[in-house]
Amino acid sequence: MAITTLHTVFLFLFFFILISLPPSSPVKLPFSKIFAFGDSYTDTGNTHSRTGPYSYGYVSNLPYGTTFFHHSTDRYSDGRLVIDFIATNLSLPFLSPYLRRNSDFSHGVNFAVAGSTALDHSFFVDNNITIAITPESLQTQLEWFAEYLEKSGCQGRSKQCHEKFEDALFWIGEIGANDYAYSFASSVSPNVVQDLVLKNVFKFLETLLSEGAKYIVVQGLPLTGCLPLAMVLSPPDDRDRLGCAATVNNQANKHNLILQSKIEQLRKQYPKAIISYADYFNAHRTIMNKPAVYGFTEPFKACCGSGGDPYNFDIFATCGSPEVTKACSVPSKFVNWDGVHLTEALYKVVADMFLHSGYCHPPFDVLLKHKLQGS
Ligand SMILES: *[C@@H]1O[C@H](CO)[C@@H](O)[C@H](O)[C@H]1NC(C)=O
Ligand SMILES: *[C@@H]1O[C@H](CO)[C@@H](O)[C@H](O)[C@H]1NC(C)=O
Repeated sequence: MAITTLHTVFLFLFFFILISLPPSSPVKLPFSKIFAFGDSYTDTGNTHSRTGPYSYGYVSNLPYGTTFFHHSTDRYSDGRLVIDFIATNLSLPFLSPYLRRNSDFSHGVNFAVAGSTALDHSFFVDNNITIAITPESLQTQLEWFAEYLEKSGCQGRSKQCHEKFEDALFWIGEIGANDYAYSFASSVSPNVVQDLVLKNVFKFLETLLSEGAKYIVVQGLPLTGCLPLAMVLSPPDDRDRLGCAATVNNQANKHNLILQSKIEQLRKQYPKAIISYADYFNAHRTIMNKPAVYGFTEPFKACCGSGGDPYNFDIFATCGSPEVTKACSVPSKFVNWDGVHLTEALYKVVADMFLHSGYCHPPFDVLLKHKLQGS
């Protein structure tokens, strides 16, 4: 009797195991999670959830989100961002913003927040830079990350945490552009700001690496001098070969060069990690050199703005404000969305360049290959 019962139990277990197996073994995803950091170029909604004034414009109103979502998602674009296209390519859903309560974080978290600076907010307060109204910085994002880890049962530097990190892609979006914009007209010299910004970015990356991050992509700055905001604020004779604000573009270029040397230093310190530099500057420059090749007829004019030619940008009547409730009719022909941020069409081209066209160093598929071999 006892044996028969055991048999029954075994049989039952056997069938139970059989039916609980999926019909075909699922394709192994290269990464189970993405952790993203950065500013409004990467923020998928943290800006709406945070307390305090919005850093720029009226992101919660249409026409933000008009292209893909058909409503505002608090993304600073007409549609998807680079990070959205990256997630899709990795067969992961769009990342939930950390501050959105009751979000599903099983495939990663987005800590990027609009207006965020590389430098701590106290730097701007101490130097009387009052236009830096956003209190969030890289430090804030690290604190949110630590809070998230603690909530998900990952205390300290346990083995379990390390394993979690090895299966995650760390995506560091643009950061530093706000520091430069905020201190543009301040008494602190641009070189001092740049030096401090890059020291903080380095410290931030080092923290992630020391905690066990193994696969990191770090974006450089785009051509910040080609944004209508920079064009309007800089003297008309301060122009480079592309017709953009030369001083601002030079500052971004220098930032990127120093950033790359810091990354090289980190590669030596953490030889087991793969740190890829995503060359936003040259991707953007390639597009601005021949916009028509990528389907753009308007390289400079904001799609959603006011004021008409040449930039359709008025800092006192920006996209989403009561004065500007309509965008251009075909955003995909525009590089620029609202004077400061770019269109979904531009973000898609840039994401494709990062993923497929060798604008990541080492290339993104090399990083993927390492990941698939290493796990
Ligand atoms: C992601 O990009 C790779 C090329 O880098 C491509 O082969 C693959 O099909 C893409 N996957 C998805 C889901 O888009
Ligand atoms: C900031 O402003 C205060 C009050 O106007 C002044 O006393 C202080 O010296 C200023 N600090 C700097 C760094 O400019």
